[in-house]
Amino acid sequence: MKKTGIRMKYYLAPMMGYTDCYLRNLAENLYGNDIQTFSEMIVDKAIIYNESKTIGKHFLDNNKSAIQIAGSEPQEIKQAIKILNNIDIINHVNFNLGCPSSRVQENKLGLALTKEPELVADCLEALVKFKKEISVKCRLGLGLEEDKKYIDNYLSLFTKMGIKTVFVHCRNGILDLGTKQNRIIPKINYNLFLECQKNHPDLNLIPNGEINNIETINYLIKQKISNLMIGRQFSKDILFIEKIGLYDLKNKKISVLKFLSDIKLHKFPNINLIKKSIFTLLNNLTSSKSLRKDISNIQNLELLSSYFEETEIWT
Ligand SMILES: Cc1cc2nc3c(=O)[nH]c(=O)nc-3n(C[C@H](O)[C@H](O)[C@H](O)COP(=O)(O)O)c2cc1C
Repeated sequence: MKKTGIRMKYYLAPMMGYTDCYLRNLAENLYGNDIQTFSEMIVDKAIIYNESKTIGKHFLDNNKSAIQIAGSEPQEIKQAIKILNNIDIINHVNFNLGCPSSRVQENKLGLALTKEPELVADCLEALVKFKKEISVKCRLGLGLEEDKKYIDNYLSLFTKMGIKTVFVHCRNGILDLGTKQNRIIPKINYNLFLECQKNHPDLNLIPNGEINNIETINYLIKQKISNLMIGRQFSKDILFIEKIGLYDLKNKKISVLKFLSDIKLHKFPNINLIKKSIFTLLNNLTSSKSLRKDISNIQNLELLSSYFEETEIWT
């Protein structure tokens, strides 16, 4: 249940090593249609050469997540999209144009691809062959300096290609700089994001980056922004929007039990990853430490469900 006067929508940002199928499923069980989740970045080649293993690894049958893909060869993206068009549970493809990691850079993926706007256009032409929802995720600029032209040109390109939804990590990305440094050195620039919104009113621009406290969220709401993409804060504390008074989760226990029972239907559930997602529920509780200890010692899903059934975690 929402507590703000306006209808908010939350987006769980794609995060490699964090937003696996379990954390996403937990979020979907807690927030229903008020959240859209995204898979970790998946390279198009993994879909082409190992479709069922890749989809099986990243998606539970009832995940409503978008799949985030990366690629830099239009023919391969086209092939991957052709495959994704035939998978019922895939309803939304997001294209990564922002990842600065060196491994990704070597293959001209993510942020590195944006050095070549014509190639980006060719890749997007392949992407738009997806028959359901499409979006992209990008940065505000390439390099340390503010570069309004970079983002403006890309937003114009997305418009031209018919891509309406754009998730904007509101800081530049710098190639040849580590991923961690890339989240520290280039500064968050919501002002430029707001300027982009004004200049591209036909696009649905969704901000991302350091949206992790009520002051920032209230500031964005004041700017009439009701869609927020949040990464690290959700991955630490999946209940944080409730804690800061933005959301009222009527019955967390029922949602968690539903999550655990859905997962039982999965062929090869990974108990350690399931526990990792469960830990995101326990942030800042007075009994966090003992709950974590108990849960760490549980070895199967049946016992995990019984534990949640019997323990009063949220009174
Ligand atoms: C560990 C980690 C992994 C990430 N993996 C991805 C990814 O696979 N795809 C992507 O587009 N962004 C990825 N990101 C970037 C996040 O989606 C997000 O843009 C960034 O963390 C800023 O948002 P935040 O301040 O809300 O965390 C990752 C970030 C982190 C910290």
